[in-house]
Amino acid sequence: MRLTRAPLTLPFFCTLLIFIINVSGRAPFACDPRDVKVKHLPFCRSSLRTSERVSDLIGRLTLKEKIGLLVDNAAAVPRLGIKGYAWWSEALHGVSNVGPGTRFGGEFPAATSFPQVITTAASFNSTLWEEIGRVVSDEARAMYNGGMGGLTYWSPNVNILRDPRWGRGQETPGEDPVVAGKYAASYVRGLQGNDGGDRLKVAACCKHYTAYDLDNWSGVDRFHFNAKVSKQEMADTFDVPFRSCVLEGKVASVMCSYNQVNGIPTCADPKLLKDTIRGDWRLNGYIVSDCDSVGVFYDSQHYTSTPEEAAADAIKAGLDLDCGPFLGVHTEGAIAKGILKETEINGALFNTLSVQMRLGMFDGEPSAHPFGHLGPRDVCTPAHQELAVEAARQGIVLLKNRGPSLPLSPRRHHTVAVIGPNSDVTVTMIGNYAGVACGYTSPLQGIGRYTRTIHQQGCKDVACTSDKLFGGAVDAARNADATVLVMGLDQSIEAEFRDRTGLLLPGHQQELVSKVAAASKGPTILVLLSGGPVDISFAKKDPRIGGILWVGYPGQAGGTAIADILFGSHNPGGKLPMTWYPQDYLSKVPMTTMDMRSSRSKKYPGRTYRFYNGPVVYPFGHGLSYSQFVHTITNAPTILSIPLHGRHHASANTTLFGKSIRVTHAKCNKLSISVHVDIKNVGSKDGSHTLLVFSRPPAGHWGPHKQLVAFAKVHVAARTQHRVPIKIHVCKYLSIVDRSGIRRIPMGDHSLHIGDTIHSVSLQAETLGVIKS
Ligand SMILES: *[C@@H]1O[C@H](CO)[C@@H](O)[C@H](O)[C@H]1NC(C)=O
Ligand SMILES: *[C@@H]1O[C@H](CO)[C@@H](O)[C@H](O)[C@H]1NC(C)=O
Ligand SMILES: *[C@@H]1O[C@H](CO)[C@@H](O)[C@H](O)[C@H]1NC(C)=O
Repeated sequence: MRLTRAPLTLPFFCTLLIFIINVSGRAPFACDPRDVKVKHLPFCRSSLRTSERVSDLIGRLTLKEKIGLLVDNAAAVPRLGIKGYAWWSEALHGVSNVGPGTRFGGEFPAATSFPQVITTAASFNSTLWEEIGRVVSDEARAMYNGGMGGLTYWSPNVNILRDPRWGRGQETPGEDPVVAGKYAASYVRGLQGNDGGDRLKVAACCKHYTAYDLDNWSGVDRFHFNAKVSKQEMADTFDVPFRSCVLEGKVASVMCSYNQVNGIPTCADPKLLKDTIRGDWRLNGYIVSDCDSVGVFYDSQHYTSTPEEAAADAIKAGLDLDCGPFLGVHTEGAIAKGILKETEINGALFNTLSVQMRLGMFDGEPSAHPFGHLGPRDVCTPAHQELAVEAARQGIVLLKNRGPSLPLSPRRHHTVAVIGPNSDVTVTMIGNYAGVACGYTSPLQGIGRYTRTIHQQGCKDVACTSDKLFGGAVDAARNADATVLVMGLDQSIEAEFRDRTGLLLPGHQQELVSKVAAASKGPTILVLLSGGPVDISFAKKDPRIGGILWVGYPGQAGGTAIADILFGSHNPGGKLPMTWYPQDYLSKVPMTTMDMRSSRSKKYPGRTYRFYNGPVVYPFGHGLSYSQFVHTITNAPTILSIPLHGRHHASANTTLFGKSIRVTHAKCNKLSISVHVDIKNVGSKDGSHTLLVFSRPPAGHWGPHKQLVAFAKVHVAARTQHRVPIKIHVCKYLSIVDRSGIRRIPMGDHSLHIGDTIHSVSLQAETLGVIKS
């Protein structure tokens, strides 16, 4: 999303109206029961099917009125008793004030600000992801009822964290397509309310479709970037989270991105919008542009020669709503020129209006809605704020624990030196696309609840351009029983519009850490705030640095969670959702190269744990605990026969290609491998363990080295054992994508890797005469 847009200027009477309805709740958006002219019209009758109501409404609209509904700042239709609506609201990790649809103030001064998504992803706990969505949508509905919020939230961001420099990597669930897909589906279900019916609590939106993960790197920005993506990478990587978001999360919206993919702006590409999202995945909802995307592909990319062609191309490609004014200005001209038909506009409106109907916006009094009771007292509740702390605890990753140095003990460590530019931060902890938090607990405050602290900034800010404050920091460490350095990044280093140029800690931070560690009387612990990975090889190697925690951007109460882990009242169980590359990796990978797969001939090392096999600072999935867990695979098949659809039996040979079977030729339904894993906590502390199941396909040309096929979060008490059933859907997870973008199941030995244990299962095509196992 582009943040440069001028805020909406509401006319005075509108401000007055908001003031009045704030007292008694929101006035109806449409179909006001007091409006006798309209309340009996079919589109207002909630007993009718949504499609009937929408068709009725579209039939009543003039062309001008229709065009007024194609933009995010949708016009009112006073003739039919319909108010204006601001479509653009955000709720990436809490209700946000980015976007004109939602504001804070009055009875709604704040909302619960959860950890940034990269942190929550590190919990690998899909129950938590859904639970956060549920809480955020409670608060969103409450704000809507109070006249302060919208109902259409353009979250989550499920682009793959392809490159460690990306300034918006923090917003995403990381680099793995399966994790990103599961996160998308879980968070969306939480937000939208999973009642199984057609109704929506709020409407979520998965963005930015697709191959969008570059903001501004080395002279290339997202408004001009043409991502060259092979069919293989598209199906294997970039499509996966969006597909899961639509098919499993049943999301009500997808947003197309600014960039081009293979020379076509995504918002003008019918293959992406009409064929894939709406056709293959059967989106039940609307497709929206990123803000000013249509304007960008006309003005900046010069994709069409006239603005009317740009408008026509977007709508014909399957775009339903423009975030920005472009379609409002140029669609009428496109109709006049005969390059767009009114029926095509009707198609777009059908999709947006259906979502508004499903949200209950045409059902009269908001107070009569199933969520109409939610109000100010349902925002920032103690339970919601506690979930924000819990999410941070679950997401924090213990990277190193030498000795062990952690946990600290308030009895032995009477005085702790708390040092660093991020040691007493507040808004830094909530990252971007945040709102106004209910309140903050900084790292210093959190630690202060356990022990006496001596505070030293060390550096003025994260840029750390001077060593002027080092002396005080070194003195503090020399005199304290333990030292906690809270370092890392903030939005001045990584953000929207701002990709990083390097992976090292900025300025003199590294020098401060090493000097303080050398002087420290007690154990030295490094706590890192960052969205993207940081090359901290120096700290990993330094024996004087006993412990390292990565906390991402841990949300409003991050300091509480950090302290709970430092002092052992919570046993860490988070795992890295992305690879931590060394700095010199960057010299081999231009940010503009979309290939995930390595290429020896091009001296290209590949991207993410699935394809990159070189040295790392910390690998994907790394994360320690104060306990140790031992895995045993107890119950797993060693051979599995893949049943094929009838017509492929007769010609089994023709379906074999490099010893693999097309997924579409296999009887996939319920075809899965069941594995039981015993997890034994052999340590002395209870803890939650993240079980990661990787599969290594048989050696072949197009597969990854390994890929995550299942994960589970389980609590295991000290010295006990827990049996976890794992089901691996064969067609979904054991398939790999060939060069033409076709998913195939390779025949032969697939090895499952769980911790240090490996189990091999042989997949064989069932041919005539072979008995099903
Ligand atoms: C990209 O970065 C350059 C230099 O850092 C800056 O001049 C330019 O305005 C940026 N472009 C965008 C679109 O943010
Ligand atoms: C099937 O494939 C095998 C091995 O490639 C080959 O020897 C055989 O002739 C094929 N059979 C038919 C019916 O095409
Ligand atoms: C996953 O998160 C939920 C919600 O916070 C929590 O109740 C549950 O204990 C977590 N699971 C594990 C194993 O930690």
